[in-house]
Amino acid sequence: MRLDSLFLSAIVLSACTSASDPVSRGKSRFVGMGCLTCHRVGERGGGQAGPDLTTVGLRHSAQWLDQWMKNPKEWKPDTAMPTYNVGDDVRAELVAYMDTLKGKEYRDHPPWNSGKLKADPEKRGERIYSRTGCGACHGPRGKGGYPNNNVVGHQIPSLALVRDGFTREELKERIAQGRRPEPADPAQPPPLVVMPPWKDFLTEDEMEDLITYLFSLRPAEKPNEEWDQ
Ligand code: HEC
Ligand code: HEC
Repeated sequence: MRLDSLFLSAIVLSACTSASDPVSRGKSRFVGMGCLTCHRVGERGGGQAGPDLTTVGLRHSAQWLDQWMKNPKEWKPDTAMPTYNVGDDVRAELVAYMDTLKGKEYRDHPPWNSGKLKADPEKRGERIYSRTGCGACHGPRGKGGYPNNNVVGHQIPSLALVRDGFTREELKERIAQGRRPEPADPAQPPPLVVMPPWKDFLTEDEMEDLITYLFSLRPAEKPNEEWDQ
């Protein structure tokens, strides 16, 4: 009897610990705090007010995520992302969860392979651009305006004119390999946002359609274009 209940409490205990590791707690908080009203993760959410977060753990370091969550307006003063005044422990759980988001849902079920999109490379490229989160750094439709620290001009480059500066091959190489920006001042901390390498994530045909889309871009004419999802 005693042994039985001991055994039972061991099971209950282990179930509790596995359900309450930092990543699962972070996931519950992410849902509970309403992040999905503006952000998408795989098939969940679908709000268009903010960028898709399905690959956020591929594109950002935990260090940057922590800094962003602490005070998004400090990083980007005009952001529509609310500031959440949560404690260090809660923020650490949210970051631990987001750090695990490496785009698995989209590798398992790419949301850009419908027959209709496959027949229209530019539209398919646009879908790949928004769902993989290129726009989280380069802005919707590559319009730019997103900050970086310790780089000349303080901004991540706009992509609106890449067709003038790159051949298709050069563009493919840059996206595949990624790039660490040169620090403007080598004595200061290096830029926290880097161009991630996409070679292990995007397939050859996805890369081709993405480039077709990038070559179609022009500088924005309307000041506030929506996030295209
Ligand atoms: C009212 C809409 C809104 C809500 C709610 C919201 N965000 Fe955001 N979030 C944004 C916007 C907009 C951006 C993009 C920055 C910009 O364009 O100003 C963003 C950016 C981000 C980024 C950076 C993405 C990247 O790759 O650069 C992360 C991480 C993030 N949000 C996490 C969260 C978390 C976690 C929550 C919930 C606790 C949340 N957001 C709730 C609007 C929102
Ligand atoms: C986490 C932020 C981030 C994400 C996400 C991101 N980039 Fe970048 N990208 C950068 C930064 C920073 C640079 C500048 C690197 C440098 O200084 O050379 C850059 C540079 C580039 C350049 C070269 C532009 C130029 O004029 O030098 C291209 C092209 C590009 N990115 C395309 C993409 C595409 C396509 C995606 C999505 C598959 C993407 N990026 C996702 C941060 C990002």
